[in-house]
Amino acid sequence: MEKYGYTPDEGRYVNGMKYRRCGKSGIMLPEISLGFWHNFGDVDSFENARAMVHYAFDHGVCHFDLANNYGPAAGAAEKTLGTLMKSSLQPFRDELFISTKAGYDMWPGPYGSWCSRKNLMASLDQSLQRMNLEYVDLFYSHRYDPYTPLEETLQALVDIVRSGKALYVGISRWPKEAAQVAYSYLAERDVPCLIYQGRYNLIDREPQETGIIDQAKENGAGFIVFSPLAQGLLAGRYLDGIPADSRIAHGGHLKKEALTEERLQQIQALNCIAGRRGQTLAEMSLAWILNDERVTSVIIGSSSVGQMQKNLKALHSPAFTTEELQEIERVLNGKVKAEK
Ligand SMILES: NC(=O)c1ccc[n+]([C@@H]2O[C@H](COP(=O)([O-])OP(=O)(O)OC[C@H]3O[C@@H](n4cnc5c(N)ncnc54)[C@H](OP(=O)(O)O)[C@@H]3O)[C@@H](O)[C@H]2O)c1
Repeated sequence: MEKYGYTPDEGRYVNGMKYRRCGKSGIMLPEISLGFWHNFGDVDSFENARAMVHYAFDHGVCHFDLANNYGPAAGAAEKTLGTLMKSSLQPFRDELFISTKAGYDMWPGPYGSWCSRKNLMASLDQSLQRMNLEYVDLFYSHRYDPYTPLEETLQALVDIVRSGKALYVGISRWPKEAAQVAYSYLAERDVPCLIYQGRYNLIDREPQETGIIDQAKENGAGFIVFSPLAQGLLAGRYLDGIPADSRIAHGGHLKKEALTEERLQQIQALNCIAGRRGQTLAEMSLAWILNDERVTSVIIGSSSVGQMQKNLKALHSPAFTTEELQEIERVLNGKVKAEK
């Protein structure tokens, strides 16, 4: 194992990355963050994972988003980061903002899932071990738990911060009403919720429509986006069929059924708009989200350095004209077919 054989790019904070303040906190996050959901498991190439992480860090992507169950196998993505911490990233620990989560199925029995105090506390201890970290910067309740009293989950988050094992806490995929309880409970105990993590992209506007994004802002929390490219649909990955090395072909969370004829036509039409703007569909899709100043950061997934290289161009996207924004909406409302 190389021991600190990696020297990051000295220009990593001046090469074009931009940073946004996370809600009313002292934390700035890169506009583009890197997620470890896919491609960092023990079935994946470690060399590829390392190359992507180093490329990201070299370009100012200092926020890595993990969860206990990312793999496969569950826990493997955290172990990949742990190996990288030991071999190359440890000297830069204070430059990194590392998050993890608990709440989905992790180990057998009644304590290995959801958001009881028992699950959250034990899971975070396991995550820290796997990642070779003394603390995480951000710990999330990965999903709303309808079985555990909200106060139990929230008090566990408060106590986790007080224990020093996490600097900040956040919530992911919580419905609006429960999220309001969380914001209030945490603020009253001087452990304000740093951030809400939700899925938001050109074809999935749920957090906008439900008021979740505004609610985060009103409560002084940031809003961070997952699956900004709809797992590859909005990256142009499937414009010419289903590539053998793609997420759909691997049979993971993105199902072939998501690629309906109507969806494909929308994607083709969006791709034409992107082309006229002189950019790829992936760049335009990311830029569309970042055009919303309520968004703190987008967490991209990536299966190669090449994809990351392309996606980081979204940081320098031309501004949208009103006509372009209206045309995008017409496409998504099914009123426009692909025009060159
Ligand atoms: N809180 C939650 O419940 C939750 C849920 C989901 C995700 N997340 C977080 O959000 C992160 C991102 O989610 P995601 O992976 O779904 O994000 P995404 O950015 O929507 O999709 C990433 C995938 O799109 C494809 N892609 C990306 N750039 C491309 C390009 N330039 N050209 C062609 N294809 C491209 C790649 O697919 P291929 O693999 O096919 O190449 C890549 O793996 C996760 O890693 C995780 O940290 C959180």
